[in-house]
Amino acid sequence: MKEKTEELRKKLSEMLAAAETDAAVEAIRVSFLGKKGAVAELMAELRNAADKKSAGQIINEFKTEAEQMISDAAERIKRAALDAEIRSAKKYNPDIRMNNVRGSYHPITLVSREVEAIFKSMGFTVEDYYEIVDDYKCFESLNIPKHHPARDMQDTYYLDNGQLLKTHTSAAQNAIIRKYGAPLRAIFPGRCFRNEATDACHENTFFQMEGIMIDENISISNLIYFMKTMLSEVFERDIKVRLRPGFFPFVEPGFELDINCLICGGEGCPSCKGSGWLELCPCGMIHPNVLAEGGIDTEKYTGFAFGLGLTRLAMMKYGVKDIRDFNSGNLKALSQFGSN
Ligand code: PHE
Repeated sequence: MKEKTEELRKKLSEMLAAAETDAAVEAIRVSFLGKKGAVAELMAELRNAADKKSAGQIINEFKTEAEQMISDAAERIKRAALDAEIRSAKKYNPDIRMNNVRGSYHPITLVSREVEAIFKSMGFTVEDYYEIVDDYKCFESLNIPKHHPARDMQDTYYLDNGQLLKTHTSAAQNAIIRKYGAPLRAIFPGRCFRNEATDACHENTFFQMEGIMIDENISISNLIYFMKTMLSEVFERDIKVRLRPGFFPFVEPGFELDINCLICGGEGCPSCKGSGWLELCPCGMIHPNVLAEGGIDTEKYTGFAFGLGLTRLAMMKYGVKDIRDFNSGNLKALSQFGSN
């Protein structure tokens, strides 16, 4: 009897391992434990056996074991089905309203959308771009060759494969110029990264909004017009600005557009490093080398570019005194600017 139950156990174990549905397991259960199943057959044999008692015990033990094996298999199949359901995300839809938490947009998302709407209304397309880029995109295509001192200001995080976290949204210029050619009006917001010692006005992770316009006869006046229009719409009032010469290898001439610090009104505070002015928007006329690298005919077309500090703009607009609040994950600080 021992050999017979051993053989049945082996067979049962193999069949259960191969079973993939509830119905298959049920069929196996019937064929082993059902009225006309294998166990019942063994019981029938018992009638004539000499060692009724010990053989009966062996069959009973096998029966108990078989029941356990079958219920284990059924459980395994149930779990697998549940896992598959969760993975397909059909059932996995936790209802966060149950915690009575209402979501809110991050202040940077809010200003970004506002600026996007303003530029869209002026015929600009809104583009998206990667956060991890290569050296060519971030520097070389922008007229910043290897070992150029301008790279010092933009130390960043490098990956083992030589790629890097983009230091400015300008890293998308080449790809977008190539994608559309001239004439072109595009803005591209994005997260940027730099190796910074953080303080109230410096972060290692921040947002910029790049803008480029390329067409025939584009000049600095166009640049100033678009900047002024945008800023006065964002702040809903006249904003004092000043232009200073600024050097960036990818523009010529280049400028720093500063706005009067709206937190202290120009008297000087930690947010503006005591100067009363806030560097908000470096800009300039796109360098012919950059246009040419993007496949643009530099005899025919000129263009301007700006790199609006979106994080700074959000600080000014909402009166946020410490730039580090934006990445703090502190809902008390971040959820007060609009719920949707
Ligand atoms: N990419 C520059 C920076 O982040 C800013 C910039 C953009 C300057 C476009 C000029 C034109 O420092």
